[in-house]
Amino acid sequence: MFKMNENYLKLPGSYLFSTIGKKVNAFAQANPDKKIIRLGIGDVTQPLAPAVIEALHKAVDEMGKAETFHGYAPDLGYEFLRKAIVEHDYQARGCQISVDEVFISDGAKSDSGNIGDIFALENKIAVCDPVYPVYVDTNAMAGRTGEYNEELQKWSDVIYMPCTEETNFAPELPSKEPDLIYLCFPNNPTGSTITKKELQKWVDYALKVGAVIIYDAAYEAYITEEDVPHSIYECEGATACAIEIRSFSKNAGFTGTRLGFTVVPKELKCKGTTLHSLWARRQGTKFNGAPYIIQRAGEAVYSEEGQKQTKEQIGYYMKNAKVICEGLTLAGYTVSGGVNAPYIWLKTPDKMSSWEFFDYLLEQANVVGTPGSGFGPSGEGYFRLTAFGSYENTLEAVERIKKL
Ligand code: MLT
Repeated sequence: MFKMNENYLKLPGSYLFSTIGKKVNAFAQANPDKKIIRLGIGDVTQPLAPAVIEALHKAVDEMGKAETFHGYAPDLGYEFLRKAIVEHDYQARGCQISVDEVFISDGAKSDSGNIGDIFALENKIAVCDPVYPVYVDTNAMAGRTGEYNEELQKWSDVIYMPCTEETNFAPELPSKEPDLIYLCFPNNPTGSTITKKELQKWVDYALKVGAVIIYDAAYEAYITEEDVPHSIYECEGATACAIEIRSFSKNAGFTGTRLGFTVVPKELKCKGTTLHSLWARRQGTKFNGAPYIIQRAGEAVYSEEGQKQTKEQIGYYMKNAKVICEGLTLAGYTVSGGVNAPYIWLKTPDKMSSWEFFDYLLEQANVVGTPGSGFGPSGEGYFRLTAFGSYENTLEAVERIKKL
């Protein structure tokens, strides 16, 4: 008789955004006359930039002719895209990353979930609390997190690093020694950031204790402040202890087209073996590459026009972030984030729990957000709104919340 992976049975509930989706759909069906404004999942709403669309059309035409047709993509991804990434995202910021250290993928969610494959089960993971649920859930599926305690909403073998108002929603170095440290800056869900000096402390710590940092920089394009690092490789020594995961979803609107990449520096070794060789083996075996047309679209993001147009999109979303921050502050809410990130983190009013506030907002204002507790126990009493809606909907949502 076959046996299933029983680790899945230990997972509490369903994936956070699936739960929210189900709740919102039920409300929509019961209230067909209500106009629901969705500021829950961080999904973009602006169309792809014209330079990206042009590249897509061109690549589609190439696929229709034998001379320019492309089949399987190379294991690491097309060199034209990896070169553009290295030049713009790394060399331009003084980071020593080479073209063959970049692995193109179908997005940061898959990579941050799959990266666990190259690490032994007995590694102890440390995560921020609140945290993007993918890091914890995928480790739980692998059997790395121990037992789940419903009451504490915590896994027995996970080191939680609380990110609270007192710490400016940034983690402090953990008291127990981890092997793998997940960091995401600008942060999802709190929208917080840390300075380069603060990030250097994490790199120094990882080097000291022999840990690997899995650095999710999916939101780096939203950074507006000078001393906030865009890449962990801006820190000295990071190529010997950090893997960086990036996405085209938030900086260029590829949530539906899927594209991302992971940097595994060759300097990062365990007992003389590079993690690069393990990830190359893993990807070569389990992944057949992002489509040619999408990689061409990704290349177009780095063209002069592409950069200008995608920066305008980010500006559009950041204008929404400002509307939310200012409007809610005026309405008496305590808000943070929204300055270097498209997420606004607010304290629920009147000591409501995160889910109570979710229901209240959905029912009374027909606005969807994300309950902070869905991201971890320290998220209880908080709520996340995204700046990814349309400007008109964002204005309307804020007006509705102000009237509550
Ligand atoms: C979020 O809402 O946290 C993100 O959209 C999820 C994701 O990027 O996978």
